[in-house]
Amino acid sequence: MYGLPALIQVLTFSVLICCIRHGLSLEPDDKLQTLGNDEPNKRQLEQSINPLGGSRVLLALLPRDDESDSKEQPPQFDYAYQIKREKDGRMIICGRTTCPPGTEVNPCKINNSDDTCIGCPPGKQMLDQTRSEAYVLHCVDIPSCHNWPGTVETAENHKCTGGFRMRCRCNTEDGKCGYDPCHCMKRSCAEGESLQQNCTCKPLVEPEVTTRR
Ligand SMILES: *[C@@H]1O[C@H](CO)[C@@H](O)[C@H](O)[C@H]1NC(C)=O
Ligand SMILES: *[C@@H]1O[C@H](CO)[C@@H](O)[C@H](O)[C@H]1NC(C)=O
Repeated sequence: MYGLPALIQVLTFSVLICCIRHGLSLEPDDKLQTLGNDEPNKRQLEQSINPLGGSRVLLALLPRDDESDSKEQPPQFDYAYQIKREKDGRMIICGRTTCPPGTEVNPCKINNSDDTCIGCPPGKQMLDQTRSEAYVLHCVDIPSCHNWPGTVETAENHKCTGGFRMRCRCNTEDGKCGYDPCHCMKRSCAEGESLQQNCTCKPLVEPEVTTRR
């Protein structure tokens, strides 16, 4: 009959004591200062907080900020600036880099150093900028213009429909024209004219202005 109300009373009391103890033990000095320098009162309160010797025992158990800050932490891996690669079963962390066209990414060999860029070897090319990834893109063979009928080698890159680029152009000296080396067009010009890259014909010499008197 008295069981339930008595239990609720005990629980309420426990929670109350618990809250007082926790609330005071977290910031005991502030709470104590509000009581002024009344020593007997202070000691009495400390004992009510913790009979084992006051709030300072609890404080000593809390982690101290200055201690955790001074501890040496291993550098945090940052995916935006670093890349992990496996080499001979061991993990190597490299700083990412971006390499301009004509070069490729050279993965770092020493742990926690940066990737570098190296120029393409002769006969190879890299048309685009590349970035450090787990696997690096290597320079590729410069396509031979022999594989594209009607083209000749040239210094600059020409783009095919679809984006493929190569240092080949349609050979106007051989009656082929256009800007897409994968799709050269055939044109023939009249005698005394030369075929232009844009498939127009241009007189070899300016027509003489004949004047008659
Ligand atoms: C490289 O350093 C990382 C920590 O930064 C370490 O986990 C890894 O084992 C090291 N790898 C080598 C090959 O020393
Ligand atoms: C074709 O190219 C020549 C120069 O090579 C230029 O004079 C001419 O205007 C161009 N024609 C067209 C239609 O673009």
